[in-house]
Amino acid sequence: MKGIIIYQGRYGATDQYAHWLADALGLPLLRVESATPATLAGYDLIILGSSVYVGKLLIAKWIDQNAGLLAEKKVFLFIVCGTTSDDSIQQQQLIHNNLGRAISRSITWFFLPGRCIISKLSWKDRLVLKIGAWFEKNPKKKRVMKQGFDELDRRHLDKLIAAVRATLKETAVC
Ligand SMILES: Cc1cc2nc3c(=O)[nH]c(=O)nc-3n(C[C@H](O)[C@H](O)[C@H](O)COP(=O)(O)O)c2cc1C
Repeated sequence: MKGIIIYQGRYGATDQYAHWLADALGLPLLRVESATPATLAGYDLIILGSSVYVGKLLIAKWIDQNAGLLAEKKVFLFIVCGTTSDDSIQQQQLIHNNLGRAISRSITWFFLPGRCIISKLSWKDRLVLKIGAWFEKNPKKKRVMKQGFDELDRRHLDKLIAAVRATLKETAVC
């Protein structure tokens, strides 16, 4: 099986996870802007990565545009965000709101805690967070939205790396 990592982020958290993953698995990586249907044709295992902004996966539109091609492949998706990994209701909701029914059933997804450094955000993103924090009822989430967070850690990739390796091993045996 030939694999590739295709990702889209904004401030470097998704980019960092994509590079750690490429390093661990020895796979090539591409930013989503450079990933065309012709690129996809050359691979049968696709690892997609995306961060989340105001409930939207940055890569959602690209997945939608390439859903037909992706349906023929083994696809993993890592989602880099502020949603804690144990908040499964919010995770399900995010998948449901961003991915078509068929593709969300066939993709294996993983949530990874990301990074948000307030001083590095554009004025627009800072404003969006400020407004979000204003309306947020949960005090923990409110604090995170006001102060930012940095949960980036290579170890968060362990489960995804194990799942990809198991798939590669399975197909090598067939
Ligand atoms: C304006 C803004 C909106 C965000 N909206 C969400 C959100 O709706 N859900 C979530 O879980 N995380 C949200 N986040 C957190 C980002 O997904 C997180 O910081 C992520 O690590 C960013 O990764 P990137 O640097 O690769 O873009 C938001 C962050 C910002 C700055």
